[in-house]
Amino acid sequence: MVTLLENPLRVGLQQERIPDPLIMVIFGASGDLTQRKLVPAIYQFKRERRLPAEITIVGVARRPWSHDYFREQMREGVDQFAEGGLGSEEIWNDFAQGLFYCPGDVDKAEDYQKLKEFLSELDGKRGTRGNRVFYLSLAPKFFPEAIRQLGAAEMLVDPIKTRLVIEKPFGRDLSSAQALNRVVQQTCKEEQVYRIDHYLGKETVQNLLVFRFANAIFEPLWNRQFVDHIQITVAETVGVEDRAGYYESSGALRDMVQNHLMQLFCLTAMEPPNSLDADSIRTEKVKVIQATHLADVHNLELSAVRGQYGAGWMKGKPVPGYREETGVNPESLVPTYVAMKFLVDNWRWQGVPFYLRTGKRLPKKVSEISVHFREVPYLIFQSAAQQANPNILTLRIQPNEGIALRFDVKMPGSQLRTRSVNMDFSYGASFGMATAEAYSRLLLDCMMGDQTLFTRADEVEAAWRVVTPALTAWEAPTDPALVPQYEAGTWEPGEAELLISRDGRRWRRL
Ligand code: BG6
Repeated sequence: MVTLLENPLRVGLQQERIPDPLIMVIFGASGDLTQRKLVPAIYQFKRERRLPAEITIVGVARRPWSHDYFREQMREGVDQFAEGGLGSEEIWNDFAQGLFYCPGDVDKAEDYQKLKEFLSELDGKRGTRGNRVFYLSLAPKFFPEAIRQLGAAEMLVDPIKTRLVIEKPFGRDLSSAQALNRVVQQTCKEEQVYRIDHYLGKETVQNLLVFRFANAIFEPLWNRQFVDHIQITVAETVGVEDRAGYYESSGALRDMVQNHLMQLFCLTAMEPPNSLDADSIRTEKVKVIQATHLADVHNLELSAVRGQYGAGWMKGKPVPGYREETGVNPESLVPTYVAMKFLVDNWRWQGVPFYLRTGKRLPKKVSEISVHFREVPYLIFQSAAQQANPNILTLRIQPNEGIALRFDVKMPGSQLRTRSVNMDFSYGASFGMATAEAYSRLLLDCMMGDQTLFTRADEVEAAWRVVTPALTAWEAPTDPALVPQYEAGTWEPGEAELLISRDGRRWRRL
């Protein structure tokens, strides 16, 4: 019998699957992600009986923790962050028996040998059959060393039984991403590699494919003939929080645009894949990114705007500006807001601008894609409507997940007056359930060997290529006063308004 794990060409986007027994080895296990997201998600699967009894987790980090201390830490995490908490003691005890800790240094070869021996010992005890998922939940600067050491210790030799999960950010620019890809390629095969972008784990993001390619009525309109432009917004209310150390070396372009917004863009703009298998989908994504560029790379301000939040008010409380946050350089040039205009050189999208924007400390947490259709060729209701109201299709990624289509109707009454209304689908109302946590979906997929929702080497590089002109320009030393500011709790800086109003269009007010 061919098990799911033995068959790497598995079809994506499936539900209700059970992976084979395996050991999930988490590097950086003393960090936040393990306690808040990874272990609670795995526990949740356990409670839902979606994992085999043999499932085993080994935490690796520098701290000299014992197995029992690790279990205590994970218990706290599960209690606080797993949906439904710990549940019964019986389930927890059963789960905790599969939790282990192995102290180790990322750069010490002998620690990998120790780990390797420990894992084979566990195979014997737990029946995990040599199946491993190595999850790098480390600071990005340690990725290359950890991968090299795993390779040198021959822990990634078997492409069927061993997998490597790499957290974002994958590189900090094109050349570092290429260098990291080279390390990966020298150590293992692409089919073993799972580069995480948690946006792909979101239900509404996966639905983009179904919405576009399972319905006959939208696809004929999805092109330059009918679409005027497309807006993609990922707005956040949070500021930099306690992540200044990371954010100061990253900023909105690296943290959000190159990965999350680019994924939303790809799924909106790509051609239909031949099938749902991972490579068909990822090949189409790469093709569309390769055809994409900033609208005007010679006059960058016409296609890319950065901004930084200044002091302001959020939910009635004063909040500091970015440069006043703890750990942030008072003269920092790092953008907390980015707006961009992309053009796509292909038959479908030639001349149709894609406007993307993301920022922290904006008035609302909201992510959506809006497809703005062209105006009718000639409006016969001149007296009834002040102006044409083009149709807008809105895909709400979060919150209030759903899809709305705006169109004009006649208002009831003897006069001919028109008004725009919305036809609205909401996940909550139709399915009555919260959409699943993105990490859970991705974790289960990599345990199953399904790469559909992970980024391929060429994809990540192509995405860096698109943003490189802005990255290079914004990296250059400049007078801090030249970085556009916006007040916390307000929408974009004026320069971003200009980016779109110059084309006679407006950002959607969300
Ligand atoms: C992360 C970024 O990848 O995504 C954060 O590092 C950001 O800065 C977060 O806040 C947003 O994710 P979500 O799922 O809350 O939209």
